[in-house]
This record gives sequence, C-alpha cells and structure tokens, in this order.
Amino acid sequence: MPAKLIHLTDPHLVGPGGRVHGLDPRARLKACFDHIAANHADADLCVISGDLSDSGQPESYGVLRDLLDGFPLPVRLMLGNHDARAAFRAAFPDQPVDPDGFVQSVTDLDAECLVFLDTLDGGHLHGRLCERRLAWLSVRLDEAAGRPVSLFLHHPPLVAGLPHFAHIMLVDTAPLMDLLRRHGRVRHLFLGHLHMAVSGTMDGIPFTVGRGTCHQMQPTLDDPRATFVDGTPSYTVALYDDPDLILHEVEVPARGPVVGLAGQPAQP
Ligand SMILES: [Fe+2]
Repeated sequence: MPAKLIHLTDPHLVGPGGRVHGLDPRARLKACFDHIAANHADADLCVISGDLSDSGQPESYGVLRDLLDGFPLPVRLMLGNHDARAAFRAAFPDQPVDPDGFVQSVTDLDAECLVFLDTLDGGHLHGRLCERRLAWLSVRLDEAAGRPVSLFLHHPPLVAGLPHFAHIMLVDTAPLMDLLRRHGRVRHLFLGHLHMAVSGTMDGIPFTVGRGTCHQMQPTLDDPRATFVDGTPSYTVALYDDPDLILHEVEVPARGPVVGLAGQPAQP
C-alpha cells in the first residue's frame, strides 16, 4: 500500500458567518474535509499549507479548530502571509514549532522525510525564511541525508509568468535552492499562495501549487492585476508508491454531473 498524504491550501477562514469576496470559506473547507473523511480516511496525514486565516483573527482559528473536531486524519498546519503566528499558536498549541518558535517541523512518511516550513514575514505579502529558519532547514536536510524529502512551504520560491506575484514570492530563494541542491534528493515541493493550479520544475525539482479551497485566480500571464474567481475548491492526494510519487487533484464537488459509466452503453 502506498503511503497517502492529503494537501490542501489557502482556506482563508474568517470568523463565524463571515465571507471573503462573497464566498463562505468555512463551508468550502468543510465540504473538502467531508469529502476527504468519506474517501480518504485511510490517509496518513493531511497538510494545510498556509493562509489558514484571511487576516489572522483568533476567531478564524477557532473556526478551524471546530472544523477539525472529529476529522479522522492527523493534521499538520502551516502559516501563510495572511496568518498571525501568535494567534495561531494560541489556538493550536499542539502543533509543533522549531526552537525559535517558528511553525516549522519534520516528520516521516515511510522512507520519505516531510519538512514543513514557516515563510510568514509578519505584515508582508512576500515570504521569508531568514537565517534562523534556513539554519534549521539545513540541519533537517543533513539529518535526512540519503533519504528523499518532500518540502512544504506557502510561498513558492519562484514561478515565471505571473506578474501579480513578481514581488510577493519568497525572498530567500537563492539560499533555499542552494540547500535543496546540496541535499540532492528533494523529491517534490508542495506550495500554496497562488490560488491557482501551477506545476512544473524549479531547478530540476518538481512542484505543485494547490488551487486552494476559497477564492481562486485565473493565470493571467501578462496582467499584473489579481482577478479572483469563484472556482471549485480542490485538494491533492499524494500517493508515495516508491520509487514514484503520484498526485491526484480532487475537486469538491465534481465539476459536472455524472453522464455515463465506462463500459456501459452511452445514454442517448
Ligand atoms: Fe492565500
């Protein structure tokens, strides 16, 4: 059996009854949680890669706590630029942090080493790792010598063709990529922040950006304006089937109605 991991991102929760761009972030995340519980309760871990909250209010983290009550999977929560570290830690004291108090941690998934980074640079839209967080990562990668690593961070180190994000990506890209290159077995980057599905390679390392569960963006490659759309919430199912990693994107609800069954005669 392959190990199974669920990746969600950017739920942008607000306090009870609140909306974001006219959308109900709680209802959309709950629909994903319900779908995961019904279809992937056997998964080993669920990761939410930041922008848990829309503006870091304690009430929004309370909404997340309530939604996770009874959720069948262990959950690793991460921070994005819309989060507030102190409010998050007050609401989730059980989530691991590094010795400096950053919401960074590491765990194993069979042979895979999973590393979760905290790129929040309070008050800024861009992401930052800083010397202390990079030093922590360097030690973790040394400890994982020879093992494949999956790295999770909210801010993409770099993505070409998105002018809106040109100045709000990760600012420590060069030292991060140096560390990843030195380790040599970083298998995949799981990312958020962009609110759209993007995949490819960065310096030879495959990556995927989740579309998120709340408002989404269209990939307007030559337009610096951010245009949000009411897209379908989605999450990613990652199957670690050594030596392979397979990623399935799941939309909630499915994009259209059932119109037939494979192997059955088509309906007129
Ligand atoms: Fe976001």
